[in-house]
Amino acid sequence: SLESAIRRGGASASSCRRFSSDSGPERKVAILGAAGGIGQPLALLMKLNPLVSTLALYDIAGTPGVAADVSHINTRAEVAGYAGEEQLGKALEGSDVVVIPAGVPRKPGMTRDDLFNINAGIVKSLCTAISKYCPNAVVNMISNPVNSTVPIASEVFKKAGTYDERKLFGVTTLDVVRAKTFYAGKAKVPVAGVNVPVVGGHAGITILPLFSQATPASNDLSDEDIKALTKRTQEGGTEVVEAKAGKGSATLSMAYAGAIFADACLKGLNGVPDVVECSFVQSSITELPFFASKVRLGKNGVEEVLGLGSLSDYEEEGLEKLKPELKASIEKGIKFAREN
Ligand code: NAI
Repeated sequence: SLESAIRRGGASASSCRRFSSDSGPERKVAILGAAGGIGQPLALLMKLNPLVSTLALYDIAGTPGVAADVSHINTRAEVAGYAGEEQLGKALEGSDVVVIPAGVPRKPGMTRDDLFNINAGIVKSLCTAISKYCPNAVVNMISNPVNSTVPIASEVFKKAGTYDERKLFGVTTLDVVRAKTFYAGKAKVPVAGVNVPVVGGHAGITILPLFSQATPASNDLSDEDIKALTKRTQEGGTEVVEAKAGKGSATLSMAYAGAIFADACLKGLNGVPDVVECSFVQSSITELPFFASKVRLGKNGVEEVLGLGSLSDYEEEGLEKLKPELKASIEKGIKFAREN
């Protein structure tokens, strides 16, 4: 009867409401490169995130195993593995957030730019597929060199007519995670309450932590301490590459950082107010077309690119020094995308 149909409708509507206030709306997250060193622990962490309803794990091989394993965890997300290019479309379809840790990592003695030749091509082909299968998705670019892969992605999307600058992010969260950890250790404050913005880019001297804006502020740190903290943050990746001695770069701390950033994007999409993270995005806060700074996230991705705030003389100097290198890396990415 009509009445029982209405009752059923009413009942299911209220159970939907209950469900949605517990976990939020349906959200699909795809991880490209999900069988890798970053991809696997990132898959685990995203499976633990209650905001995720569908988790698609894509790689050229190995993802059925990772997906079967992670899928047994009793949390909300439905997990599926996709292997090989012919399954990429299915993995991407309907995605709200696509996280890309696909590509080769550094070995000792390599800079992130040394990865360019291999990773640029991988990023280009994955972004071509994104523009075809989920053009509205928020993209979290982890693959290095981020200073070039983000500009490559932007060019691919522009060419496809799908570019929305609010939805393309270079993931620099690991620089922030490192700056917080190193600062807390040196300033002897509890790390959980520490905040440090990191701006610029994501390689060597282009990584500019703003310790003058760190909270809680510390009066105990000398100029030498700040210099040492800055250098350690800039070379944090190399510290891990050397310690792993040929077995790759940061994977576990990167998966943590990637999970934090993807969670922030999901919260933004879901309308949670005042979600702010540092990220490498299209920007007009300096003369460079892409720049990392604090960004407010919202229902459409970037809601506002926040300014740099006031800098110490040392940070001003670092900012001027990083610009030529960052500019060259951005241009290298754009040139690659236009010529290939
Ligand atoms: P990995 O070699 O362990 O894993 C990479 C995965 O990508 C592999 O499973 C591989 O099969 C997959 N892959 C390669 N080509 C692919 C394609 N066309 N489509 C899908 N998947 C593909 O490397 P790891 O350690 O996971 O690092 C991945 C990337 O993340 C590297 O470029 C690395 O430099 C970067 N990275 C970025 C950081 C950041 O802060 N943004 C920090 C650490 C690493």
